[in-house]
Amino acid sequence: EAAQKGGYPHFMLKEIHEQPTAFHNTVSPRIVDGLPNFACDKICDEDLRRFERVVVVACGTAMHSGYVGQYLIERLARLPVTVEIASEFRYKNPILNRDKDLVIIVSQSGETADTLAALRLAKKQGVFVLGIVNVVGSSIAREADAVIYTWAGPEIAVASTKAYTVQISVMYLLAIKFAMLRGFADEAFAREYTSNLMSVEEHIAEILKDSQSFQFYASKLQNAHDLFYLGRGLDYALAMEGSLKLKEITYIHSEAYAAGELKHGPISLIVDGTPVIALGTQKSLFEKMASNIKEVKSRGACVFLICDDTCENTAQIADFVIKLPALPEIFMPLLSVAPLQLLAYYTSILRGCDVDKPRNLAKSVTVE
Ligand code: G6P
Repeated sequence: EAAQKGGYPHFMLKEIHEQPTAFHNTVSPRIVDGLPNFACDKICDEDLRRFERVVVVACGTAMHSGYVGQYLIERLARLPVTVEIASEFRYKNPILNRDKDLVIIVSQSGETADTLAALRLAKKQGVFVLGIVNVVGSSIAREADAVIYTWAGPEIAVASTKAYTVQISVMYLLAIKFAMLRGFADEAFAREYTSNLMSVEEHIAEILKDSQSFQFYASKLQNAHDLFYLGRGLDYALAMEGSLKLKEITYIHSEAYAAGELKHGPISLIVDGTPVIALGTQKSLFEKMASNIKEVKSRGACVFLICDDTCENTAQIADFVIKLPALPEIFMPLLSVAPLQLLAYYTSILRGCDVDKPRNLAKSVTVE
């Protein structure tokens, strides 16, 4: 097992560090002449053009990748997207249109029971199903009408890391592709976005070099009882994933909230010292985030702000600031994910938890 870990103390840390490679392996085969292209997946433009709505169905972290996809596809391509929890979708007699809807099933393992059942339900209704799957030849990959494989390689740690990053990478490619097909992006725009996307790999590698500061931040979180993750827009989608990662492997109660919802409930739980992880990578929403941060600070919260390195005066609003390279805001999720994973990882280590095999959780939930 030590050999399999390739010198890392845990699979999770190894898999976090494999993200630049996983990203490269997933994205580069799907860029031809500077533009997204799914020919290697046997999906041509004509297959995608007819859809008027996307329904993403998945569980856990894979479902969270759907929320990122929702923001991206709606924003770039003006194509409506809904995200459904597979175990809810399968029992609610979902409204699907076989001519206009595309169901995207996201799954690392390709074997999650509820997700597989959702796929079968959609197919039974004659809806086209696209799988975004990591395990080659898995049930979901075999049964979907088309498959985009994420090339993350085997993911062993129960808490998903690199699989999420490659799932969202595929969402970027799909969003740019749909934007072109629907006339919301001309070729120059799509090329610029595609090239921005490709630049992400080196930035992720850079962020991963600095493990020390995350160990320090983790030392500030390790004794927390409750933790809140706040964000707006794409940052809210990332907040959900950051919060899930932390609770999975540290057993600290944590919740993700759309920052604007703070005053509709969770602010009553903020007391002196409550840690709040505030994601502020979305430039266009930063002012709004800053005022939410002030609201929690004034109730005593200890704020960790994740933002880009062009943000000014951050020391005045947050206790700890994690700065990321500045890219156009739409690409920031690909940079903020690793810090969230590392925060969870090092907090888990400091609390003496079994990082790779957290209690009560399974890598793949193949029973209902
Ligand atoms: C389990 C795993 C999660 C995973 C989820 C969905 O809960 O612990 O890490 O996100 O299942 O799994 P899938 O293989 O369908 O992506």
